Amino acid sequence: MSKEKVFPKDFLWGGAIAANQAEGAWNVDGKGASQADMTRGGIISGETDQQIDPNLYYASHEAIDFYHQYKEDVQMFSEMGFSLFRTSIAWSRIFPKGDEKEPNEKGLQFYDDLFDELLGKGIQPMITISHYEMPIHLVDEYGGWSNRQLIEFFSRFCEVIFKRYKDKVKYWLTFNEINNMHKIPLATGGVRIKNEEEPLQEIYQASHHMFVANSHAVRLCKEIIPDSMIGAMLSLSVLYPNSCRPEDVFETNTYRRRHLFYSDVMIRGEYPTYVDRIFKEHTISINMEEGDLELLKAHTCEYLAFSYYLSSTHKAGMPILTHTGGVRGIDNPYLPKSKWGWQIDPIGLRIVCNELTDRYNVPLFIVENGYGDVDSINEDGSIHDVDRTNFLKEHLVEIYNAIEDGCDVRGFAWWGPIDIVSAGTGEMKKRYGFIHVDKDNEGNGSLKRTKKDSFYEFQKIIESNGASL
Ligand code: BG6
Repeated sequence: MSKEKVFPKDFLWGGAIAANQAEGAWNVDGKGASQADMTRGGIISGETDQQIDPNLYYASHEAIDFYHQYKEDVQMFSEMGFSLFRTSIAWSRIFPKGDEKEPNEKGLQFYDDLFDELLGKGIQPMITISHYEMPIHLVDEYGGWSNRQLIEFFSRFCEVIFKRYKDKVKYWLTFNEINNMHKIPLATGGVRIKNEEEPLQEIYQASHHMFVANSHAVRLCKEIIPDSMIGAMLSLSVLYPNSCRPEDVFETNTYRRRHLFYSDVMIRGEYPTYVDRIFKEHTISINMEEGDLELLKAHTCEYLAFSYYLSSTHKAGMPILTHTGGVRGIDNPYLPKSKWGWQIDPIGLRIVCNELTDRYNVPLFIVENGYGDVDSINEDGSIHDVDRTNFLKEHLVEIYNAIEDGCDVRGFAWWGPIDIVSAGTGEMKKRYGFIHVDKDNEGNGSLKRTKKDSFYEFQKIIESNGASL
């Protein structure tokens, strides 16, 4: 008989969403337009419209109307047994243009109410300060994180929210999937690359500004909320070498380092030596100010949170293509795929947990893992989403194994516990939820919430703290 998979007693169970994919109410109560609000077809479509066209459909404008319906949703999260809920604060709700001196009170009030609702049900909020959206004004007028002035605006934003929510929010994350600066710099950092032929100078310069801002955020957070934890968040789906050919192995490792570069700086507090070669070969020179490197060293992230969806394989010399799930390489013949071609690899998650523990030995949180699928609704309204449940269980078993391996995994947040807009494609059809939302790709639907079979399955797992797996 296999051993019961009981998780550590304080393990946090829950789900994760992002403001722009769920809240809607894009221009309500003083909110300004964010880059996500000006985008159609998903954040990786790579452009924003210059103006909102009222005849066109923008998925974030209503999304699932979490802004108005969060109480019902939080009630359902509580029924599932959540102890953790990750969401982001829409920067443009608090500072509509981003460069104002005074925050928007109504925006602040919304999050106060949301956090009260969560805490009242015993659910810890985990807050991503910047999740693929910034006020569009900062993108258009300042060039996003290419501009050092963003450090000042972001620090002001952080100070305001840390002071306001110091008694309510103890888990913070600075930038969602910051390592995606390489593949989606507009979504990740509000940066429109000018030199597409040789983008690395701009990417590393903007990343440096984000690192400095990250350290300021860590400093402020620990000063204002001493009993908080503030972490880095990366996209860390796995890339395997396509063969044991040394060239394939080496180049795959090189790409992995391109990602881990971000946590190397944010957790170890210094630029790793391997970037010297990249900087030399691409004639990159980072503009730094006096004191930057000392700041990075003094204020580092205490934990590493990451998203994990899939794995892929890489052959030396092939271009690196990507989607929101991670790197898109050659299919692995040993693994099945989702309808969006994402290869399902639970053991890959155990590999990543071990890799990160060996490298950093800090607490880990899996803050995104999930299965996007097309759901079929039966006549009686039921949704038998067996594949989603299997995906969930298989990944949780590997998290359990990673904990047994010695990894300090503190929590798990399923991506999109309620159906939300897909970041990659802007669709509603790609559903991750345990809770179905009646809305289609064109924006039609009543927004009614319905529990899928996976809702009850996750409930059982949480109730037994993993033992039912
Ligand atoms: C992550 C993002 O990259 O992947 C989320 O942090 C996103 O915002 C998730 O939604 C899943 O991607 P998609 O494209 O299926 O929504």
